[in-house]
Parts: sequence; structure tokens; C-alpha cells
Amino acid sequence: MRYRKRKYFLAGRINLIQRSKIRELFEKASKMEDVISLGIGEPDFDTPEVVKEAAKRALDEGYTHYTPNAGIPEFREAIAEYYRDFYRINVDPSNIIVTAGAYEATYLAFQSLLEGGDDVIIPDPAFVCYVEDAKIAEAGILRIPLRAENKFRLDPDELVEMITKRTRMLVMNYPNNPTGAVLDKKTARAIGEIAEDYNLYILSDEPYEHFLYEGARHYPMIKYAPDNTILANSFSKSFAMTGWRLGFTIAPEQVIRDMIKLHAYVIGNVTSFVQIAGITALRDKRSWQALERMRRTYDERRKLVMKYLSKMPHVEPFRPKGAFYIWVKIDPELDMTSEDFAGWLLENAGVVVIPGTAFGKQGEGWIRISYATKKEQLVEAMERMHSALSRL
Ligand SMILES: Cc1ncc(COP(=O)(O)O)c(C=O)c1O
Repeated sequence: MRYRKRKYFLAGRINLIQRSKIRELFEKASKMEDVISLGIGEPDFDTPEVVKEAAKRALDEGYTHYTPNAGIPEFREAIAEYYRDFYRINVDPSNIIVTAGAYEATYLAFQSLLEGGDDVIIPDPAFVCYVEDAKIAEAGILRIPLRAENKFRLDPDELVEMITKRTRMLVMNYPNNPTGAVLDKKTARAIGEIAEDYNLYILSDEPYEHFLYEGARHYPMIKYAPDNTILANSFSKSFAMTGWRLGFTIAPEQVIRDMIKLHAYVIGNVTSFVQIAGITALRDKRSWQALERMRRTYDERRKLVMKYLSKMPHVEPFRPKGAFYIWVKIDPELDMTSEDFAGWLLENAGVVVIPGTAFGKQGEGWIRISYATKKEQLVEAMERMHSALSRL
């Protein structure tokens, strides 16, 4: 069928969303041969076999129908059980909604909690979806800088300075995309207290909670500000399940009650057999063993890439202790913007990296490298980068 040429009247709201600036770079890369991408933010591993088997079995057993909007009760219990066993946090299953990944959890939080006249504080740099979610919610956006000298942790004093009567929500994401930074207990506590004192919501997006290195630990914000935190979490990274679209949110009762109204009319419920597989992911030892194998492999790659980067001219990596990204500073003497540098690297080394500005203004002068790529590819990319940069 061919559509007639006519004028379509679209809601202005949709134009608030900015399509990713890095699309052009990817488009250019897709037309080139022999390009290695260190741009992707998804595991290169397959979902653990035991989880795939559970989904197949669930299909055969007839899990092909609607489920309650908030999710299958046994799955919500398994999530609560996981928080109890892993973090000693008591979560009631009634405070959980199973969502289509952390993306949906985040969207629900913005839509349910913010409106015109409210402000949200979003770190800079930050993962790309928060700003777009805020725009659609018509909220004012304040960016709080994350600084290398502070190991890219939020500075509680700076946060207090930014808060006004309009401030409703703070977004947090540790282990962090794009910097690979992790949180520490002192900061988690301080921010939790600020949230309580100023009656702020914390949207804490924690999909990389298990990817920790060098003895780093995870501090879930629901532990430090339970009455204020909306947790977004996901199976995408932990169990290499990006395509399954499985995540969840945990929030106070009243918030959950509102979030579920939107969730019920947008997706109804997350795919039934996917939820059943989620129970296996959380309860079966084999999926945790698979997770640990992935974590170790990421750690080896992290060390490998750090070793290469630290020997390269014109770049200086921040040593990450979480997620699977390395945030790399570009030599200011090169006088190149992040986008120039990423473009130059693509043309001269055939390597795709993400310009830091994709994550906010503070990302100027930085690039993000993902090591969720096979070792041989990483080595090849590093060697190409080294030789290209040596020619500068
Ligand atoms: C920080 C962060 N939050 C959320 C997401 C989206 O994850 P999901 O697949 O669970 O929707 C990503 C994916 O890259 C991410 O890096």
C-alpha cells in the first residue's frame, strides 16, 4: 500500500523528543567496511540456557494469556525474595510492577510524578533516556555535573544548592552509564537524607548492579531513602536479556498505584512466558553462575582495555569499577570536540566510539568505550586506535 501525500497533524509533544545525535555516526559506520564498534551498550553474551529453557517450557505449559497488570504474583514474590536475600531489604510484592525493561519503569516514573512547573535534577553526563522522558513529562530539567575529581559521584553539597521549591525528583544511576563510576555508602546515605529532608523523589536506575569490579559494592537507594525512592531495574544486563524486555520498578504504595494506571493501558502486562522465565533467572543457581562468568569476562576485558588505553597517546581513561563502559578523556591539546574525535577515529582507525556529548554538555572532551565486545575485537580496536593516535 502507498500512502497519499498529505499533511499530517501530529501532537507537538512528540517533537520534544530528540532522536539520538549519534545516529549519523552509526549510519556512516554502517556504510564502511571492517569497522569495529565499541559503541553498543548491550551484552554480547547469550541469555543463560536455563532461562531460555524456562521460557520454552512456559509456552508449552500454556502461559500465553494476559497476566495481572503488575505481573505474575510468583514473579513479584521472587523479586521481593531476591532483595531480601541479596541486600537484606524488605520489599512487599505489592510495591513491585513488572515492566518492559528499565526504560518503561523510568517512563512510568516521569509520567506519574512530574508535570509542567516541576523540576527534575538529572546528572550530566547521564544515560540518554532521562532527559527525553523529562521533556515529555513537561518537567524543567536541571543538570548536576558529575566530575572526574569526585569519581563521577554526585556531590551532596552541590545537590542541596540546586534544590528549589520546584524540585521534585533526582535521577541516579550507579553503576553508571556512561562513566563506569560506582557509588559509595557515604554518598548514598547523604543523598538519601537530602531526599527525605527536601521531600524529593529519587529515581534510581540500577540495571548494572551486578557488574562491579575491584571489590566495589552496590548500594541500592531503596535502602537509603525507602519512602522516596523509585527503583528501576532490569534483567537486560544482569542476565543478558535485552531482547526479552523484562524489568521492574519498586516504589511506595501510592506511587505504584498511579504508575500501574499508565502501565495497564500502555502495555497491559509484560509477556507472560517471559515473566515465568524471570522467576528462573532469579531462583536458579545456574543463571547466577552464568552471571558471574559474564562479570569475570567483563572484568578481564576492562583490565585489558585499560592497559591499552593507558599506554596510548592523547587519551586518558577514568578507571571504572562498574558497568561495562570506559569514559575516556581526550587530550585538550588536540583541539577536537568529542564529535570530531569520534568521527576522526572512525575514519582513521575504523573504530566506533560514542562522543561524550551524547550524554550531556559535561561529556564534551570525553568519549565512551563499551567493552561488551569479544576480546579479539577489543584487542584489534585498541591496536588500531593506538597506531592512529600515534600518528597525530
Ligand atoms: C542506565 C540504563 N538504564 C536503562 C537502560 C535500558 O534498559 P532496559 O533494557 O532494561 O530497558 C539502559 C540500557 O542501556 C541503561 O544503560
